[in-house]
Amino acid sequence: MPLPTPRIRPVPGTEPVETAGLGLVHRPRRNRKSDWARRLVRETTLSVDDLIWPIFVMNGTATRAPIPSMPGVERLTVDEAVRAAEMAAGLKIPALALFPYVDPALRDPLGSEALNENNLVCRALRAIKAEVPNIGLITDVALDPFTSHGHDGLLEDGRILNDETVDILVRQAVVQAQAGADVIAPSDMMDGRIGAIRAGLDAAGFQDVQIMSYAAKYASAFYGPFRDAIGTAKTLSGDKRTYQMDPGNGAEAIREAALDVEEGADMLMVKPGLPYLDIVWRLKEAFGLPTFAYQVSGEYAMIEGAIRNGWVDGERIVPESLLAFKRAGADGILTYFAPRVARALAEQA
Ligand code: PBG
Repeated sequence: MPLPTPRIRPVPGTEPVETAGLGLVHRPRRNRKSDWARRLVRETTLSVDDLIWPIFVMNGTATRAPIPSMPGVERLTVDEAVRAAEMAAGLKIPALALFPYVDPALRDPLGSEALNENNLVCRALRAIKAEVPNIGLITDVALDPFTSHGHDGLLEDGRILNDETVDILVRQAVVQAQAGADVIAPSDMMDGRIGAIRAGLDAAGFQDVQIMSYAAKYASAFYGPFRDAIGTAKTLSGDKRTYQMDPGNGAEAIREAALDVEEGADMLMVKPGLPYLDIVWRLKEAFGLPTFAYQVSGEYAMIEGAIRNGWVDGERIVPESLLAFKRAGADGILTYFAPRVARALAEQA
């Protein structure tokens, strides 16, 4: 059937060169015409090497406890965490990030348990290192799983004490390195902590332990389900806005990251993830350091909730969400979807 003649004629003198019916010179759709052509011109891809899997550990043995606000994610006892690490290594996931659910009876205002070399994190580190030596282990440095008030630092008269907290974080980092942590990831947002932790690690003989700085970590409602997972949702007094960043700020993220780079960060991280892709892009452009993004618990909950309701196609939306991080310049993503995506990538290969 012939197409109707267009009613609107080009302004005389601006007619395009006649190449076809519509007179188009550029047809971007040509490069999308088939699967092979699309693969050939694809600018970014997702690989298993881009994935870091955050897991939650708890006391006990042979138990997995579901986290209701993170359907599909469970807290694992240390022996189960070892099984999970084996599974992840089998899928070629490069690294795990460990987060503890600390027994409430062990939490105090100073977060003392953070410095116990036999605490849950250290036991998990040793157990996984012994049985799965080739997977990278990243540990979070911050006091919130260990404090009775749920803050990342010491609390005095409603204020978070910066320098006193940094002293404890340095010791926490050394305790974790002694237990086998490969990468220390400070998520506390205290000023000056990267330099102090670097000096502390070096003095203790851990020159090779890397620091992945949560350089731009925002005071975000997207952490809600994580706080259920580590049991701080109910105990947190107030909010974290005097140390985590204001969601309205972008240039400040560059200043924060610049300090961390100067103080010796090996890698930078932005958190949350998808809502903050502009920050990922800016940090990668500004510093060129390995830059990671954390697809946090609330992002996971939103996507997984929609998948479970049949509102979106999980097989497509999950890799698409992760590819977006790569396009924005991220070198890798911390994501609770890591094993699922690693499995899907292995099946495609
Ligand atoms: C705590 C910490 C948080 C997350 C990682 N480390 C939460 C917070 O700052 O309250 C969030 C991770 C997630 O939401 O998945 N220092």
